[in-house]
Amino acid sequence: MHIFKTKKELQKFLLSFTKEEKVGFVPTMGALHEGHLSIVEQSKKQCDITICSIFVNPTQFNNASDLDNYPNTLKADLEKLEQLACDIVYTPTIADLYKNGEKAKEFDFGTLTIGMEGEFRPGHFNGMATIVEKFFNIINPTKAFFGQKDLQQLQIVKALAKQMESDIQIIGIPTIREESGLAKSSRNELLSTSAKQEATLVYKCLKYCKNNQELAIPTLEKYIQEQFKNNTHFKLEYIDFVSLNTLLPITKWEAKNQNAICIAAYIEGVRLIDNIIL
Ligand code: PAF
Repeated sequence: MHIFKTKKELQKFLLSFTKEEKVGFVPTMGALHEGHLSIVEQSKKQCDITICSIFVNPTQFNNASDLDNYPNTLKADLEKLEQLACDIVYTPTIADLYKNGEKAKEFDFGTLTIGMEGEFRPGHFNGMATIVEKFFNIINPTKAFFGQKDLQQLQIVKALAKQMESDIQIIGIPTIREESGLAKSSRNELLSTSAKQEATLVYKCLKYCKNNQELAIPTLEKYIQEQFKNNTHFKLEYIDFVSLNTLLPITKWEAKNQNAICIAAYIEGVRLIDNIIL
């Protein structure tokens, strides 16, 4: 496994590959868990060379303490990637990617950034798109892989690739879950055993909607809000039924697999997000 700390070294190395070789790119912020590893595995299956980046991107944090508390587990991350035989890891410093004092670029993703994370984490998607655009320009992969757990991010990255008029294929990888249904996340490690158990409510609600799709959306929405109200440990931030293409709220189901239900909720002060596509 080759580890590069600068874009210059990485790009020099990438010159040794032919145009026919498919390059897969998996961007991460480290603290790798099984969800990330399944994305790397997919890239390995679909591409000839897999590059994983580990970079905690400062411009996508709208909360300074969230950035300060972000886990740094580089040694363990590298071991996990080595075990998967990931070909290249790019672990840049801030100075390798940002000019001194550089801020996030302003993007326009239309309706995609209005609600959900766009509403509750102002500036987050400009920061995320700023760094992803930089990575795409440095690496120019054949395919870039993103987890479906961050559904809004995935849809925005697809829009970004279009805006860049790039041929990079954006591939969404299904969420990996604990046996209990809880979506794998680095944040789960911050939960007590009992909170981890209670956190399964999020996926239970999503599954309830899947199994009761004959009910009207407002009825399902009310049901979920009640489930969270009845659980005093949880604070529901949003439950949104949206159209997959626009991410705008819907009150009636669209065609099969064109609807998403997205939830963000706090338990023990930890923010969990999850979604289901129906
Ligand atoms: O999903 C993430 O971990 C980040 O938003 C990403 C895509 C690596 C950009 O910093």
